[in-house]
Amino acid sequence: MQARRGELIDALGEAGALAEVEGSTVGLVAGRLEAAGGEAEITILAVEEGARGRGIGRALLDTAVEALRAAGVRRAWLVTTNDNLTALRLYQRAGWRLAALRPGAVDEARRTLKPSIPALGDDGIPIRDELELELVLEPPLPA
Ligand SMILES: CC(C)(COP(=O)(O)OP(=O)(O)OC[C@H]1O[C@@H](n2cnc3c(N)ncnc32)[C@H](O)[C@@H]1OP(=O)(O)O)[C@@H](O)C(=O)NCCC(=O)NCCS
Repeated sequence: MQARRGELIDALGEAGALAEVEGSTVGLVAGRLEAAGGEAEITILAVEEGARGRGIGRALLDTAVEALRAAGVRRAWLVTTNDNLTALRLYQRAGWRLAALRPGAVDEARRTLKPSIPALGDDGIPIRDELELELVLEPPLPA
């Protein structure tokens, strides 16, 4: 379960894709469509530590974006946290834009929803704030 926007959600979402290397699953991406169908949230993107830095995260993200575009989604969004410099770099290099900042949202979630959220991120940065990123999708070109 993942805390974001003041609620706990099932990060596995509704649909997703797995990355496999030599028969072993090393990463996943998942998301969910919003009620109206025009928007979708990427709820998880994760690659096993030993398999990072080889383009798997970017490939999973691109796969998800193409699936959403094909499904007619016009805007994708996701939430990450202030400490997650790797993710912020990956998303922005892939064209995602910062759309919202919620100062203290992770502190609040740790207090009220999920006490197990660690206080410090990988780089020793206190995990405090939520950042929302978005990607506006053009419809696919007609065949
Ligand atoms: C964020 C995360 C999914 C990135 O996964 P990843 O597979 O390491 O991502 P990529 O390999 O596509 O990109 C990471 C870096 O490797 C580089 N890279 C890609 N292919 C490469 C290759 N063949 N050789 C060397 N470097 C490569 C990328 O260019 C990128 O570096 P850059 O930022 O300097 O451009 C991963 O770090 C992770 O699972 N983190 C924990 C979960 C998490 O925080 N998820 C996001 C929450 S919102």
